[in-house]
Amino acid sequence: MAVDGQDDTQRPAGSGHERVLLSPPDVGPLEESYLLRALRSGWVAPVGPEIDAFEREVAERVGTAHAVALASGTAALHLALMAVDVRPGDAVIVPTLTFVATANAVVYTGAEPVFVDCEPESGNLDPELLDRALRELRRAGRRVAAVLPVDMFGSCADYGRIQPICAAAGVPVVEDAAEALGATLDGRPAGSFGRAGILSFNGNKIITTSGGGMLVSDDGALVDRCRYLSTQARQPVPHYEHTDTGYNYRLSNLLAAVGRAQLRRLDSMMARRRAHRSRYAELFAPTAGVRLLGAGDPAANCWLTSIVVDPEATGWQAAELAAHLAAADIETRPVWKPMHLQPVFAGARTLLTGTAERLFATGLTLPSGSGMSRQQLDRVCARIDDFLRRSPRGTDHDLPEVRRAHDTESVGAAVFTS
Ligand SMILES: Cc1ncc(COP(=O)(O)O)c(C=O)c1O
Repeated sequence: MAVDGQDDTQRPAGSGHERVLLSPPDVGPLEESYLLRALRSGWVAPVGPEIDAFEREVAERVGTAHAVALASGTAALHLALMAVDVRPGDAVIVPTLTFVATANAVVYTGAEPVFVDCEPESGNLDPELLDRALRELRRAGRRVAAVLPVDMFGSCADYGRIQPICAAAGVPVVEDAAEALGATLDGRPAGSFGRAGILSFNGNKIITTSGGGMLVSDDGALVDRCRYLSTQARQPVPHYEHTDTGYNYRLSNLLAAVGRAQLRRLDSMMARRRAHRSRYAELFAPTAGVRLLGAGDPAANCWLTSIVVDPEATGWQAAELAAHLAAADIETRPVWKPMHLQPVFAGARTLLTGTAERLFATGLTLPSGSGMSRQQLDRVCARIDDFLRRSPRGTDHDLPEVRRAHDTESVGAAVFTS
C-alpha cells in the first residue's frame, strides 16, 4: 500500500515515478479517442450506445448469448447470486483462496459462505473437496444454493470436474471470472461455464473501464432480471414505480466506451502478459524449489504471474525476495490471504487441506502488467537475478510462524468445521 492508503496497483503507469507496479492500467490513445467520442455524443449516463455495443462485444468474446454491463464485478456477483435464487440462510460454496469480493457478495444476499480449499498446482477450487463439502452440507440438512468457483489469476477452474459434481447435486454454478477474461479451457472461454459468469474491469484487471464489471449468461430471463435489479428495479411505466428493492449498479456509457477500446486490445495485452510470464519462467527455471503458480495451463490469460517458493529447497523465502524487490522500488504482493484466515470471516464453516495457507505463506506475485516496458522488465529480472546469485542455497533460515504451523500439518486430511 502507498502512504496515502491508495492501492499501488491502481496508480497510473509512467506517471513520473520509477516504481514498477504489479498490474497498473494500460490505457492510451485508443481509449482516449473512444472516451472523447462518447463524451461528445452527449450520452453521459448509465444508458447509451457504447453500453449496448460493449455488452454485445463482451458476450461475443465470452461466447454467451447475453451480457449486462455493471458498476463492478462485485455488483455482478451480487446480482448473479440473487438471480440463481440464493436466499438468506442458504450455504454458498466459495474457494477460500480468492479476493474478498467473492465472499462478500454471498454475505450481501444473507447467505453463508462455506470456504473450501484449493489445488496446489493452480490455486483453483479442489473438485474432490467440493464434492465432499456438498455431501456433508446436504447431510447436515443445509440448502446449498450455489457454487462460486474462481478462475484464479486468470486460469480457469477445473470445470470438467466441477460441472458434473454440481449438476449431480442440482446446485447452480456462478463463475467468478473477474480475473480471467480472455482465458479458455478446452477451447471454451472463461465466463461461459456457469448458469452465469462475472467479469471485472477494475483498474488492475486485464482490461479496465477504471471501475466496472459484467454479468454474462445464456439465460435470457436471468439476465433480464439482473438488468432490472441493476436499475433500481424500476417498473416500465412513465412514473417511478417499484415493486422490488433494486440497486444502482449500472455502468456509465463513458466507461463502456473505454472498455470497448480495451477489448480491441485484449489479445495484444494478453500476449504481453504471457511474454512476461515466459521470461519469469526462464529466469527461475534453474532454481530448484521455485515454480510458477498455474504453470501447467497453456490457455490462461496470464493476468498475474506468481511464484511459489519451497524454502527448504531454495534456502530463502518469498518474503525475502519481496523485501529485496521493494528496496529497488518494485512492487510484489503475496498470493491472496485465504478467506478463512480473514478476521471478518472468523468462525466460518470450512473444508481445508492447508493448501491455500501454504500458497499464501510461500507465494509471491510479480509485476505482470501489459504496460510494463522492456526496460522495466529487464530491471525486475536483474534484481531477481542478483537476489538468486546472492542467496545461499539450503541454509537453515528462520521460518515465520505461519510456515512452522503448517510444516507439521498433514495435507489431504481435510476437516469439515461447523
Ligand atoms: C476473484 C475476484 N472476484 C471479484 C472481484 C471484484 O471485482 P470488482 O473489483 O470489479 O468489484 C475481483 C477483483 O477485484 C476478483 O479478483
